[in-house]
Amino acid sequence: MMDWTDRHCRFFHRRLTRHALLYTEMVVADAVIHGDRERLLGFSPEEHPLALQLGGSDPAKLARAAAIAEDLGYDEINLNVGCPSDRVKSGTFGACLMLTPALVGDCVAAMKAAVRVPVTVKCRLGVDDQDTGPALDALADAVLAAGADALWVHARKAWLSGLSPKENRDIPPLDYGRVARLKARLPEVFVGINGGTRSLDAAAERLGEVDGVMLGRAAYETPAILSGVDARFYGATDAARDPGAVVEDMVAYASRLLAGGGRLHHVTRHMLGLFHGPAGARRWRQMLSALPPEANTDRLRAAFAAVAEAGREAPQGVSTSRSPVMA
Ligand SMILES: Cc1cc2nc3c(=O)[nH]c(=O)nc-3n(C[C@H](O)[C@H](O)[C@H](O)COP(=O)(O)O)c2cc1C
Repeated sequence: MMDWTDRHCRFFHRRLTRHALLYTEMVVADAVIHGDRERLLGFSPEEHPLALQLGGSDPAKLARAAAIAEDLGYDEINLNVGCPSDRVKSGTFGACLMLTPALVGDCVAAMKAAVRVPVTVKCRLGVDDQDTGPALDALADAVLAAGADALWVHARKAWLSGLSPKENRDIPPLDYGRVARLKARLPEVFVGINGGTRSLDAAAERLGEVDGVMLGRAAYETPAILSGVDARFYGATDAARDPGAVVEDMVAYASRLLAGGGRLHHVTRHMLGLFHGPAGARRWRQMLSALPPEANTDRLRAAFAAVAEAGREAPQGVSTSRSPVMA
């Protein structure tokens, strides 16, 4: 999720689930080709399985960017056909491509010819006044004919004019039934659903009709739910890692980052939502917010100690609620 997630966030989420597929935020194909690759595309081996999401609509550029990403070790390349940002007005990427399924098909075909890893597409139900019946079918048929390996559908329309990107994630109504009908029409194809899933119970319910559930905001805002994913959806029999072990892993990770000149805040900003509800969660957020630039990992340990202490005092103790996942 642009401006929210990054490699540090993914490393953290991977401490909570070993199996959920993690997606990067969208990176525009031109940036992949011409930009600072270490900064834009660098990741830790621990983040696997990891998909890179690309933005763009030029088949040759997308093919080149996909090949670069495959060389770097990404496990999947996903094409963004759902982002309603202002830049879509320039017609270069995102949800506006719902209007040109043949072009998206050309993009997917070029990417497929350039890489061996799966090439997938994340789209909307349609845009503006498109009829979501034919619009989604046309997009799906075009990318599948081009060889797309899976389709993720954010189950609402995007309004390209009149709504901000943020409003476009909430205001157009969700229509899970439309995605279920797509899956029923395409039984052989992996169809995943996205949008509005806040809990693993809700994800399980959706899995009755589709093949996968992608969590966006819930994964970021309430990351502890990721720790229930492996047992519930991937048959893992080992116990979910306890929060103390997760924090210790992040202390070690942050120490390496600090040694390389990074700041604690770059890591801890993704961890603010680790505790919700239980005693100490507020203290955790307070201690990890507004960190001075020189803050070191003692601060992270101290914040966790405060949560643990509060848990010993409170009868309910420290609890974390314990997803196939995210952008
Ligand atoms: C801050 C933010 C940035 C986002 N960036 C991306 C992105 O880069 N690529 C993408 O496909 N979706 C992006 N999204 C949309 C989410 O992936 C997801 O489709 C949307 O939030 C609905 O799912 P949710 O209700 O589970 O969050 C972003 C969402 C947010 C909140």
